Amino acid sequence: MSEYRLPGFTNDPAAYEMRTMDCMDCHNRPSHRFRSPNDAVDLAITLGTIDRKLPWVKSNAVAVLTQTYDTEPHALENISRSLRDKHSSTPQADALVTAVQKIYSENFFPEMKADWRAYPENMGHKDWPGCFRCHDGRHKAVGDAKKKIPASDCASCHTILAQGSGEAMDKLNPKGSAFIHIDAEYETADCNSCHTGAFPK
Ligand code: HEC
Ligand code: HEC
Ligand code: HEC
Ligand code: HEC
Repeated sequence: MSEYRLPGFTNDPAAYEMRTMDCMDCHNRPSHRFRSPNDAVDLAITLGTIDRKLPWVKSNAVAVLTQTYDTEPHALENISRSLRDKHSSTPQADALVTAVQKIYSENFFPEMKADWRAYPENMGHKDWPGCFRCHDGRHKAVGDAKKKIPASDCASCHTILAQGSGEAMDKLNPKGSAFIHIDAEYETADCNSCHTGAFPK
């Protein structure tokens, strides 16, 4: 069995109880998932409950969901006021307000202080460290600095067949492509230094 450590690790594992990794280390939100504003709005746009043709609709919806509110009624009222103000000249404003209020009611519980900020999810690695708690390429085997945790590069876990939109999605690459992030290749294991579930930094 190999033991992997980060450079600069100084603690003594012998002083602690060892535990075997189990389901909950990754599936830490198996039932009630508190979706982040970014993911909840993306999902609603994909499902068509938020109309993607409304100008700046993703930004406006994420902004209003990212604010902190004391109570649910206060939040729902503010969501309505803010979105009606920004989309005042559109007949779809009612449907937009209803969709965003529904996201709020299902994923945010201000009286319990429960939302995506309080309950991270370890699945994946975009908004929280998740798999990159270990698969970051920086954990090296004790006594063998060349050996790192297997599956510490994007292609070990993902085969990107195609990406982009429109015609780009018709060009499949069975060998797998590099991840194009915004407009350039990006393959560093530090996604959550910018992605927080709200607007990326
Ligand atoms: C190393 C992290 C990790 C551990 C540990 C882990 N899982 Fe998973 N599990 C995943 C990932 C990643 C997926 C795929 C999630 C997705 O597709 O969104 C998954 C998917 C699943 C699914 C859904 C499968 C499907 O067909 O949709 C079930 C059920 C599941 N895991 C059960 C378990 C159980 C039970 C254990 C413990 C015995 C466990 N997992 C341990 C990472 C893990
Ligand atoms: C707490 C540390 C830790 C976390 C978190 C973790 N892993 Fe791992 N994982 C390991 C270690 C260590 C190994 C290597 C085990 C060995 O070689 O015996 C491994 C092995 C694997 C392998 C097998 C690689 C191979 O080629 O043998 C896969 C696939 C994998 N992990 C996927 C995941 C995914 C997906 C996640 C996130 C959902 C995840 N792991 C989260 C520590 C972790
Ligand atoms: C140890 C396995 C593992 C490695 C290494 C890994 N990923 Fe992932 N990645 C996952 C899992 C698991 C998910 C979540 C899948 C899910 O939720 O269904 C994910 C999700 C993603 C997503 C979708 C994020 C979103 O929410 O839209 C992207 C993009 C991504 N990975 C890119 C990368 C890139 C780029 C790298 C290399 C820097 C990388 N991954 C390395 C396992 C891995
Ligand atoms: C330096 C900051 C930064 C880092 C690091 C970063 N991103 Fe991003 N990412 C951004 C910005 C800014 C956008 C554009 C956001 C927009 O257009 O709304 C973006 C957009 C995205 C998108 C599409 C929009 C969304 O949120 O779903 C995905 C998916 C994504 N990044 C995944 C990743 C993954 C996976 C990694 C790590 C391998 C990563 N990013 C690392 C800043 C970053």
